[in-house]
Amino acid sequence: MAVGIFDSGLGGLTVLDAVAKRLPNVPLVYLGDSAHAPYGVRTPDDIYNLTTAATQRLFDAGCDLVILACNTASAAALRRMQEGWVPPGKRVLGVFVPLIEALTERQWGDNSPPREVAAKHVALFATPATVSSRAFQRELAFRAIGVDVEAQACGGVVDAIEDGDMILAEALVRSHVDALQRKMPTPDAAVLGCTHYPLMAEVFQDALGPQVKVFSQANLVAESLADYLDRHPQMVGPGTEPAFLTTGDPKRVSSRATQFLRRQITFTSA
Ligand code: DGL
Repeated sequence: MAVGIFDSGLGGLTVLDAVAKRLPNVPLVYLGDSAHAPYGVRTPDDIYNLTTAATQRLFDAGCDLVILACNTASAAALRRMQEGWVPPGKRVLGVFVPLIEALTERQWGDNSPPREVAAKHVALFATPATVSSRAFQRELAFRAIGVDVEAQACGGVVDAIEDGDMILAEALVRSHVDALQRKMPTPDAAVLGCTHYPLMAEVFQDALGPQVKVFSQANLVAESLADYLDRHPQMVGPGTEPAFLTTGDPKRVSSRATQFLRRQITFTSA
């Protein structure tokens, strides 16, 4: 009965938390690849190899469905995995589509042609690898026309969050918002395209101003997953035990995770 949730590190806990609230009876197996984080500065091949290894580990833990709760992995590896790697009977889903569906105000699974939407100037904040993949712009183009996207690669923010240095993370977020506003002075929407950034959502909102609608993924992904499992109940895998797995140091990772989610989280070695 388990669903796997993968992230390069701790950021995906924002998605896990929202999914656990929305689907309290589904055991969730989380895997954070903290030994190799951050992914955002790695090459696409490297991200693909690390993501497939981690996803295999989640299949082995009894998950038939794995959510890549990592924009960088979704952007750089998901399409290649779906095209040639995912074994029969297993599914791997990413986190871009629910976000774009919300931004373009579409119903889940609406496959009609792209159309004009309310948001005209969208700021995308993401890791360097996500920004250079242009995956967000590609997915958006399937659904919306006339949307101007300005992307800001937010170097350093993930490392600061993984290190628990929230003062540095806040300073970096403010300087990345400044840099974005020099390129796009008046965005009407902003997308937090990295699972770590919801932990800094208030700082993004404050720096951008109240007129900017900030989209962050956790609840959107949870809603989309609930809808998917309604339509594909067989994709809840055979595993019965929730677990938190890490490739990093379980003690250190557990203590950071407990601090982020404000409840006791105990990781074991992946
Ligand atoms: N949390 C990941 C994301 O959503 C990436 C962080 C990283 O490892 O660079 O993009």
